[in-house]
Amino acid sequence: MSEKPIRAATQALGFEGSNRLRERAHDLIPGGCHTYAKGDDQFPEQAPAFIVRGKGCHVWDPDGNEFIEYGMGLRAVTLGHAFEPVDDAAIRAMRLGNNFTRPSLIESELAELLVDLIPCAEQVKFAKDGSTVMTAAAKLARAYTGRPFVAFCADHPFFSINDWFIGNTEMAAGIPPEATQLTATFRYNDIASVEALFDRHPGRIACLIMEAERTTPPKDGFLLKVQELCRKNGALFVLDEMITGFRWHLKGAQYIHGLDPDLAGFGKALANGFSVSALAGKREIMELGGLRTKKEKVFLLSTTHGAESCALAAAIASVNAYKDLGVVDVLYRQGQRLANGIGKIVASLGLTGHFALEGPPCALIYATRDQEKRPSQAFRTLFMQEIIRRGILGPSFVDSYSHSDDDIDRTIDAVGEALVIYKQALEHGVEKFLQGRPVKPAIRRYNDQVFD
Ligand SMILES: Cc1ncc(COP(=O)(O)O)c(C=O)c1O
Repeated sequence: MSEKPIRAATQALGFEGSNRLRERAHDLIPGGCHTYAKGDDQFPEQAPAFIVRGKGCHVWDPDGNEFIEYGMGLRAVTLGHAFEPVDDAAIRAMRLGNNFTRPSLIESELAELLVDLIPCAEQVKFAKDGSTVMTAAAKLARAYTGRPFVAFCADHPFFSINDWFIGNTEMAAGIPPEATQLTATFRYNDIASVEALFDRHPGRIACLIMEAERTTPPKDGFLLKVQELCRKNGALFVLDEMITGFRWHLKGAQYIHGLDPDLAGFGKALANGFSVSALAGKREIMELGGLRTKKEKVFLLSTTHGAESCALAAAIASVNAYKDLGVVDVLYRQGQRLANGIGKIVASLGLTGHFALEGPPCALIYATRDQEKRPSQAFRTLFMQEIIRRGILGPSFVDSYSHSDDDIDRTIDAVGEALVIYKQALEHGVEKFLQGRPVKPAIRRYNDQVFD
């Protein structure tokens, strides 16, 4: 495969290889891939359809086009692609055997590392993905409290692929309505909605599940008040740290906000893209899944592949790298450099209110708005199309330890050029600039356009 360097803005990218391979992927795999967020409907038509390899924050597509990548494997790859200390640790573990008939010692090794690090963790249990541990948290909470209802924050978009959560979304086909009869919601930064929830279901709420923060910071001590209301009403306080864990702070958002959740779920950045997730929490609750309880046993995260040695070794090496290299500081610093650069461009082009970065520097996303400043998928698609054309693959601006000053500065230059086009599209109509259909929300009821 010949590799072409990141292009000058005016050069057209070729996606012939991508387009050819796309057909085959859709013939073989529903949606052509294994995560909706990576799907064709999430990207412009003029985009790489596949990644062939990555190194650091650079990736190459089947046509040999090189991109600086953001988003990093749905926020899993915090250190960078093919990060050698992590890969070497995984390979060493693999060579010792990957799965035995008794537990491997590496399970306790990673557990100890996490118990020492994460404030709420007295015990941890591993799985391969975040959805599974969040579902386990809901089950444990129901078993521990003997209560039926699970409440989650309606302003947070995703907790699990499982029925208790997906049944509440637009994409609920195949899930009987009964599956969601025991879920309820509350709103972020709206403590009255949490009080109302407990009033509506007195003595019936097993737990509240939420992220500590997304793009809006907590106001008026909201998080501590939620924790307090949970304690007062006998419900468990469960934090989803899938995004915040190891990215916002090494010890998670619970540490930043001084929280003491009963249970917390980690995944994504835990192993730099290797598949490991963890449910962490109080011994008294977690032990319901163990052998040291006289209470009724909970079937807690018992899976064939849950403790795959190479993935656990990758997690240990990742967490050690986060500690030794000051990774989280770098994520903030480079994100801030990007935010400063893009902020200046937005102001100088008069695009305030039309294009904005949101979230903390370690986890930047962007908002695209049309002429009336309404959220616009068409403008999102145009922006992505124009940065892709300039060698930046960015459904968000979530960075990694591998994003160098040069990568960030090249991104700022590309964004500057893309926003000039964006501005012209605001003036003359986005359809004049967009090549192909706009992107769609990943979770929706119908494929209003069939991709074939
Ligand atoms: C906040 C949050 N929780 C849970 C999950 C589910 O994790 P997984 O995709 O590993 O099942 C995600 C996935 O995007 C997430 O963003």
